[in-house]
Amino acid sequence: MIRKCLFPVAGYGTRFLPATKSMPKEMLPIVNRPLVQYGVEEAMDAGLHEIGFVTGRGKRAIEDHFDTNYELEHQISGTSKEEYLQSIRHVIENGSFSFTRQREMKGLGHAILTGERLIGYEPCGVILADDFCIGEGGKGVMAQLVEIYRRTGKSVVAIEEVPDEDVSKFGVIAGEEIEPGLYQVNDMVEKPAKEDAPSNMAIIGRYVLTPDIFNILRYTKPGKGGEIQITDALLEQARRGDVLAYKFKGKRFDCGSVDGYVQATNYVYENFYCKDNDQVTHV
Ligand code: UTP
Repeated sequence: MIRKCLFPVAGYGTRFLPATKSMPKEMLPIVNRPLVQYGVEEAMDAGLHEIGFVTGRGKRAIEDHFDTNYELEHQISGTSKEEYLQSIRHVIENGSFSFTRQREMKGLGHAILTGERLIGYEPCGVILADDFCIGEGGKGVMAQLVEIYRRTGKSVVAIEEVPDEDVSKFGVIAGEEIEPGLYQVNDMVEKPAKEDAPSNMAIIGRYVLTPDIFNILRYTKPGKGGEIQITDALLEQARRGDVLAYKFKGKRFDCGSVDGYVQATNYVYENFYCKDNDQVTHV
């Protein structure tokens, strides 16, 4: 049974300064919905309704977004503007939201370990909300991973083929294709140089992790960039044959970068924005 999803949102978002000086990058809107709301909707579509956030300093706007704003509700009650709150009301009513803080930015692996107290000894999804994903045929990327986890009981990472010159920005896997698009992972390297990369199959910000990952993370030493890397902990599981990688079906936009963010905004505006009610239909 998998029912929880972790959102590490403690990063500084330096690529988006000055916008992210006092505002979390996860609150940047794609049209009129913040990135993190799309991420939570994706988790809930996958059946994960218990949402845990690993936050940091300056991230309180995320907590407020997933809580009722009584003044605002009172102000627009009975007016046509109520419709604007429909999507977030639906999310709030259907999920539970808990928060913990990562006090020092020691990397994604450390952020996930910090989230252990919200997850307990259970499998969980992990979504990096700045990797904005639109699943093919209305099936979100997290739902695609959860389906594989339910069949296999193994950790699953979403992957995408990237140009060789970009491999150094990602964790990269090597593996054997066991079903179309599904790989048994036998090697993983965090941000390799182009010439050292085992392939061009890059891990994107969607994971399903089995609960033993927390114990492995506890003993994982800082790796690339002096940070505790989730890739290093996953490699430990992969050596036992317990990690799968799935070439997800859909599109991904790196909304931590200005280019990706602008592309995502244009794509959603052109394909999902309804001018009749000023709202984005469910992506
Ligand atoms: P990034 O590498 O995108 O870092 O982290 P960042 O700080 O958010 O952005 P830039 O590079 O400075 O612009 C990947 C994800 O891991 C989370 C971030 O919030 C982001 O979702 N993260 C990273 C943490 O929660 N804690 C960390 O210590 C590191």
